[in-house]
Amino acid sequence: MTTYLVTGGAGFVGSHLIDRLLEEGHSVLCVDNMVTGSRTNIAHHLSNPKFEIMRHDVTFPLYVEVDAIFNLACPASPVSYQKDPVQTIKTSVLGAINILGLAKRLKCPVVQASTSEVYGSPERHPQDESYWGNVNPIGPRACYDEGKRVAETLFFDYRRQHNVDAKVVRIFNTYGPRMAVDDGRVVSNFIVQALKGEDITIYGDGTQTRSFCYVSDLVDGLVRTMETGRDFSGPVNIGNPAELSVHGLAKQVIELTRSHSLLKTMPLPVDDPIKRKPDISIAREHLNWSPEVELKDGLIATIDYFRSLGM
Ligand SMILES: NC(=O)c1ccc[n+]([C@@H]2O[C@H](COP(=O)([O-])OP(=O)(O)OC[C@H]3O[C@@H](n4cnc5c(N)ncnc54)[C@H](O)[C@@H]3O)[C@@H](O)[C@H]2O)c1
Repeated sequence: MTTYLVTGGAGFVGSHLIDRLLEEGHSVLCVDNMVTGSRTNIAHHLSNPKFEIMRHDVTFPLYVEVDAIFNLACPASPVSYQKDPVQTIKTSVLGAINILGLAKRLKCPVVQASTSEVYGSPERHPQDESYWGNVNPIGPRACYDEGKRVAETLFFDYRRQHNVDAKVVRIFNTYGPRMAVDDGRVVSNFIVQALKGEDITIYGDGTQTRSFCYVSDLVDGLVRTMETGRDFSGPVNIGNPAELSVHGLAKQVIELTRSHSLLKTMPLPVDDPIKRKPDISIAREHLNWSPEVELKDGLIATIDYFRSLGM
């Protein structure tokens, strides 16, 4: 049995990761400042003696005793990370410094939730981990993209300089139950609009592509990364290479919800990437990982979740 620290554990991905770790019999300390997380996401564990929650902001140092760390704290959707851009970049940068300092003291492995946003608007397709990216350093998304890039730098510097078993996972678009209703991510947006019978908002002409990974597949990739030996650092892409246009996604959601919603187009936001698709060769080879959940099945589970909220 291992005691895990999961920062950002009350968020969408973190809460599913905690479900998995507790199911496997481990203990979990969830650290979260609740900026985008919710107690409801972890309410089902509150009476579990192996689960503990601590309200704390990772931009401040943390003194706890654990065996391994997943660093997920950071708002993930443009709507939420652009509300307070300075706090967003502080969360990635100071958060990484504090969490790596903790891992150094505890001599424990630490996995960083990085993002496909480090590739920016990619000039290489699909994106493999050797691609350095094409990020606008001063645009409205930079607080997130550049924050995550600096966090990656810190992870590799702590590994080289302090011998910390630091690992980086680059997460591509992930969806599933417990996504926030109002954070503007494409899957939750479309489902909520379809269930409410509102027009479905497509930014741009809808031909831009995304790859959508179901949350249980991502959690499995995170756990497998943690289980690798200290020689494995990543970065490793975790995402679903099945590419779909935003327009195609909207059509599927309308079909699965049996909605009468119409499609409405709006201008593409600044720096919104046109293409995103992971090359997952490293994940296949080093983690023996590939996604298992079909988009249709994942969408049905996500739609059921939003229906259960009364949408
Ligand atoms: N969901 C995706 O598609 C996706 C894609 C790429 C990367 N990621 C990364 O995965 C991680 C989890 O994403 P998510 O989708 O669950 O987002 P989320 O917003 O649902 O969860 C983030 C959690 O971090 C907490 N948090 C934010 N700032 C904090 C701080 N300063 N101190 C402590 N806690 C803080 C929030 O309250 C929330 O519970 C993030 O680091 C995100 O960048 C997610």
